[in-house]
Amino acid sequence: MENISLHPDTIAEVKDRVNLVEVVSDYVVMQKKGRDFVGLCPFHDEKTPSFTVNQSKQLYYCFGCGAGGGAIKFLMEIGKQSFREVIFNLAQRYQIPVKTLALQDQQEIQQQISLRDQLYEILAVANNFYQHSLQQKEGEKALNYLLLDRHLSLENIQKFQLGYAPNGWQTLYNYLVEIKHYPVILVEQAGLIKKKSKGEGYIDYFRDRLMIPIQDSQGRIIAFGARSLDGSEPKYLNSPETNLFSKSKTLFALNFAQKNIIKQDQVIVVEGYFDAIALHIYGVENVVAVLGTALTEQHIKQLSRYTESKEIILNFDADKAGLKATERAIKEVENLVYSGQLKLKILTIPNGKDADEFIRSNVESCEKYQELIKQAPLWLDWQIQQLLNTKDLHNSGDYELAFQSIVKLINKISNNATKDYYLTYCAEILTNKKSQYANFNSEDLKKVYQSLRLATKYKNQEHKKSFSKLGKSSQNNQVEQAEFLLLLIYLHCPDYREIIMDELDNKDLVFTLKSYRFLWQQIHQIFSNINDNNDPNSLLVTVQENMINYPDFSKQLTHLFNLSENYQQVLFQPEHIIRGSIACLETVKLDKYKQYCQQQLSKLNQETDLTKMTFYYQEIISTENQLKQLKSLRFE
Ligand code: UTP
Ligand code: MN
Repeated sequence: MENISLHPDTIAEVKDRVNLVEVVSDYVVMQKKGRDFVGLCPFHDEKTPSFTVNQSKQLYYCFGCGAGGGAIKFLMEIGKQSFREVIFNLAQRYQIPVKTLALQDQQEIQQQISLRDQLYEILAVANNFYQHSLQQKEGEKALNYLLLDRHLSLENIQKFQLGYAPNGWQTLYNYLVEIKHYPVILVEQAGLIKKKSKGEGYIDYFRDRLMIPIQDSQGRIIAFGARSLDGSEPKYLNSPETNLFSKSKTLFALNFAQKNIIKQDQVIVVEGYFDAIALHIYGVENVVAVLGTALTEQHIKQLSRYTESKEIILNFDADKAGLKATERAIKEVENLVYSGQLKLKILTIPNGKDADEFIRSNVESCEKYQELIKQAPLWLDWQIQQLLNTKDLHNSGDYELAFQSIVKLINKISNNATKDYYLTYCAEILTNKKSQYANFNSEDLKKVYQSLRLATKYKNQEHKKSFSKLGKSSQNNQVEQAEFLLLLIYLHCPDYREIIMDELDNKDLVFTLKSYRFLWQQIHQIFSNINDNNDPNSLLVTVQENMINYPDFSKQLTHLFNLSENYQQVLFQPEHIIRGSIACLETVKLDKYKQYCQQQLSKLNQETDLTKMTFYYQEIISTENQLKQLKSLRFE
């Protein structure tokens, strides 16, 4: 094993997947204290806990002996294992396929790494060149723009390493290639020069522009944003996509914002470079900007790594494009927001200003901005507001549209308590806005509430009862609920897995709902492959991860993985629930069998099939007896 090199993909995947709290829990009993977990340090003897694990940073630290690091280091030290062994074991634990490197691949990877290093270097040298140019005669116009129009200080300019790309065809080219002797091909790959469209040779990618370096989270320059100074289009020109730079994965100012995002447990996302720069300068330092693209899921995932509360505040421009971008961003992370995994808020600046204009507008605007942050509505409230802003509810067509859109929004909420809250809330708004007078009467409200509730398929006990006369549909609901509960307990209560498995096997029961049946098959498969049956959570984690490959089902099944408050209660008395649910499934099965027997019976001839008839009669009677017994077990 010693001479097999692990593929960097495997290492990256393991690092991405591993959860420090889970890893440490195998060795230390930990308690949650504020944001951290604490326990007795496994690396030295102690009586009071000084070993701390920070979930969002994925770091541990012992205040007693100073041991500290991440999950991999923890395992290396506690198990006296090599890096490779730890990665190997974790890969097995998380079912990550282990890819290794042949010698040739190893060399190639090495080359890739050195290619990246060379690109970083070239970009850094180019940036020095741009920064230098800003201080020369040729850069005077750009410097004045920054100082006078943008009101930046020299210190600010230095902090963000702003520069100027001179107005020649080959100024940077000459500097990097002729003077510094960097290979043309690499300078091109860094996105700094491009082939002439006609004829031989290269020209600079950026000419006569204000240069804003884009850094990765470690502060290495990976690209540039460049603003024109004379009104020529495009206003902003970004580096092309390169080995180092992908717009959809990059956020401007993340390197500056990182530690403040962690500290404030919240991040603000703005639309423009100068919005981010201005906010940072004025002391709002947990801000990043997208780069002329939509906010992607990749961005959000990256950001949520730094925040425990998962609070992300979008502050896009209040113009049409900004609104659209906000809507798109919400859509992008719909799954996460509807299941409550992300606290997405929307900040809108009054009077259509962008953050940069607003924060610079007067002396109090900094405080006002903080106030706007505090008041920023949750994405759903914002969407409801948006929806109502554009409609005149006195107009019946508009009212109907608003009503339907609200139904659509509410229907996606999985948590019942939240759903209930928004039903009431929206009913009030709809009634209020529709009413000719400021004061609506409670009858109106009731009516709107009822119709909303019906339209949103809102289910509670009362609702179900009114439908129970329909018999069949009510049974379907119960079966669905029983199957749901069994899966819920199976996933979240490892101690009861065996009972559930045995019950289903012994009674030969199957799930009837397609998505649940599918999940059950998945669980079976994963369970039989899992090495670490002792880790109660590994199944849940693996199943959850597996589901990502089945987007159709994963959407339907998210409510099984994310325990809502309503169901946490359920898990306190699993035996009772298991018994009831199994009884429910058994009932359905026996009912079917009874029907089958009755059908057979009706086909038989009294004269000739007497033995068969007796058989079916007896079967029906015994099935009925069983059904009677089951009835007492089933919960209503
Ligand atoms: P805006 O057009 O809203 O400009 O672009 P702004 O940020 O207010 O710019 P200033 O204040 O006039 O300098 C917002 C963001 O959209 C991207 C840039 O990232 C910009 O910061 N953008 C804009 C482009 O990529 N290309 C463009 O041509 C325009
Ligand atoms: Mn602006």
